[in-house]
Amino acid sequence: MKLTIAGTGYVGLVTGTGFANLGNDVICFDIDRAKIDSLADGVIPIYEPGLEELYKQNLNTGRLKFITDVKKAVRESEIIFICVNTPTNEHKEADLTAVKEVAKSIGKYMDDYKIVVNKSTVPVGTADLVKKIVEENQQKKIEFDVVSNPEFLREGAAVKDFENPDRIVIGTESKKAEEMMTSLYRSRARTDRPIMITGIRSAEIIKYASNAMLATRISFMNQLSYLCENTGANIKEVARGMGLDGRIGSRFLQAGVGYGGSCFPKDVKALISTLKQFDCDADLFEAVNRINEKQKSVVVKKLKSVLEIKDSTIAVWGISFKPKTDDIREAPALKIIEELQNMGAKIHACDPVAIENAKKALNHVKFFENPYETIRDCDALIVVTEWNEFRNLDMRAVKILLKNPIIIDGRNIYDPKELRDLGFKYMGIGR
Ligand code: UDX
Repeated sequence: MKLTIAGTGYVGLVTGTGFANLGNDVICFDIDRAKIDSLADGVIPIYEPGLEELYKQNLNTGRLKFITDVKKAVRESEIIFICVNTPTNEHKEADLTAVKEVAKSIGKYMDDYKIVVNKSTVPVGTADLVKKIVEENQQKKIEFDVVSNPEFLREGAAVKDFENPDRIVIGTESKKAEEMMTSLYRSRARTDRPIMITGIRSAEIIKYASNAMLATRISFMNQLSYLCENTGANIKEVARGMGLDGRIGSRFLQAGVGYGGSCFPKDVKALISTLKQFDCDADLFEAVNRINEKQKSVVVKKLKSVLEIKDSTIAVWGISFKPKTDDIREAPALKIIEELQNMGAKIHACDPVAIENAKKALNHVKFFENPYETIRDCDALIVVTEWNEFRNLDMRAVKILLKNPIIIDGRNIYDPKELRDLGFKYMGIGR
């Protein structure tokens, strides 16, 4: 099929490359000329395991193209995916400016039947808005359909998630659009990973509800972790016991320093404002958000209980919001480092891939490539991102290099008994 992808961020690049790799002709369009030029020259701006190789293969075959000519991008394709950014605006709502701009262009330049697919994370009712804007901008009346096809890819596993999605949700009231979208995705679907056809508004809510449910599980465990600490229980054991219940499942039950990233924080906030817009209670999700914000400070509170932070030097392992990505958007590490600096501490930090991004967001932080060099002569160590690289380091060497054997393990990656036997003052989350 001939597809156009509007927006070349995470979702746009992975979706475009994924579909090109299935044999479709894909045009990626973006208003950012510099970005399009470097993408057309083989330079990919994001770190995502497995993506660069696929992108280069399909660029070289000519199945994947990058242009800024919106008229061409609209006219050359049957299906146009809107994959632009929907950041949080000052009212904590999803900002739909970019979505509306793309809808205007589609209306203005379409000259044949089109399927317009909302793949960006957009609040319920946005498909109707897109339909209205396209119609208002048409030169003459031409049939088209708007479909909601939310994306569920995770950073760090995006290519795998495109190739093996748990489900493909297609929200549409049009038989024609349903058939075309089904044939486009047929090769991705499996019996246990179906294509789910549903109404547009249900599809729009499925996206926010899924992210909010995952965020709720995390805030649930983070709040419960305090009870474990106050009673001598172990939150990891509690999570294991809960997760063995098939109705609960074991994933996304890890207590830690809170969730971050470009999705959960913004989607929970956007869901709260949507609920209020439709006169619905939002107190559960407000609690999820509040618990998460508070959780980011838990490691600072723990450190304060064992160390005078003023004029101390603290080592931070991990800045990205999770492993396998260089993304630091809404990363707990940003708030943790800011709080420690406000309390008068100096910061040494390392991260396998996120240092360049961190340098743009953090001041007065000394960055290191090597975890051991990071902790040399530091008064304490805080683990913030559970990179594999930190899991099997030589903890005897760590003890020698640190001025004080204090470890605050914000992701519970170490065994408390093992570290305490080595003479560390060890604090995890919920155990
Ligand atoms: C998420 C959704 O998983 C994905 O389906 C959606 O499309 C986009 O948002 P992503 O933001 O890449 O993906 O990260 P995810 O792997 O979901 O982790 C989100 C945050 O939750 C991270 O900060 C992670 O550290 C945290 N987390 C995750 C926990 O604190 N505990 C857990 O058990 C799992």
